[in-house]
Amino acid sequence: MNLYFAPLEGITTSIYRTTHAEIFGGCDAYYAPFITPSDNEKVSKKGLKDVLPENNEGVNLKVQTLVNHAESFLKFAKKIKFAGFDEININLGCPSATVVKKGRGSGFLANPYELDKFLNDIFSECDIKISLKTRTGYDSSNEFEQLMQIYNKYPLELLIVHPRVRVDFYKGKANTEVFNYAYENSKNKLCYNGDIYTKEDYDLIANRFSDCEGVMIGRGAIKNPAIFREIRGGEPLKKDELVTFAESLSKKYFEKLKSETFTLHKLKEIWVYVMQNYPEEKKIQKAISKATKLNQFMSLVESLPEL
Ligand SMILES: Cc1cc2nc3c(=O)[nH]c(=O)nc-3n(C[C@H](O)[C@H](O)[C@H](O)COP(=O)(O)O)c2cc1C
Repeated sequence: MNLYFAPLEGITTSIYRTTHAEIFGGCDAYYAPFITPSDNEKVSKKGLKDVLPENNEGVNLKVQTLVNHAESFLKFAKKIKFAGFDEININLGCPSATVVKKGRGSGFLANPYELDKFLNDIFSECDIKISLKTRTGYDSSNEFEQLMQIYNKYPLELLIVHPRVRVDFYKGKANTEVFNYAYENSKNKLCYNGDIYTKEDYDLIANRFSDCEGVMIGRGAIKNPAIFREIRGGEPLKKDELVTFAESLSKKYFEKLKSETFTLHKLKEIWVYVMQNYPEEKKIQKAISKATKLNQFMSLVESLPEL
């Protein structure tokens, strides 16, 4: 079973990915957060720079895009192929209102006819491998059967299913019964994604859906960056590793952003998840959220107890 790091916009940047791979040994592939070609089909330089191989050393990277026009996709695919990639992942899951309003991400799931036409157009034109990362519907998972019929028409490189619908956002539980429908009916290789926080969570999914090609972990890996190692039978997360991780991220972000405030912002975003390992340490958690200096932040991380 392959283990994949899910894309988390704003968090799993090239700096995060390379530092994670260096300290925790990485995983089989990292999916980069989505890149959106703008309406005039220009791709942001920042988005492209983040996925370039020279900024992702030691990382097996998959590029993701958020589009709903075949032409935009095809232009983007050319650029990505030129940068050295042979595969693109399409985001059919993002629940954010601004994305959905434009009919992208999970918003595309509300228009199955358009989605089918888009897939038909890109598969007949494109010579790059295509994988999809999808939710199981827009309003309700009753929509999933029809979506699966569409996905089964195309030779996908991988179908990654996060079994929630758009209106769930990230609330409630990922619905393994709905995933089971994909497991029994997908003609394409399948990857499970959703709510894996421990090795035990992983084992349940991997045993039940043992023919899956992979399992993707997002928030659980930000909370416990050693989760992939633990799943493979390695050592559990140690506090000292968290300190080293914070130091390295802080140094690299500061070099790039040249601002203590912006660097702190990045670290705090990550530490919201990391602090879930310390439910008792409310005082440290609060102090971290209020820290205004990097050395303050680092002293607080060092003051955390052993795990
Ligand atoms: C802050 C945040 C940012 C995310 N950004 C992306 C993204 O760029 N592309 C994507 O496909 N999914 C994105 N997701 C969804 C995750 O990749 C993943 O599908 C979801 O969190 C469920 O998996 P998990 O329970 O293992 O976290 C994001 C989720 C969060 C919480």
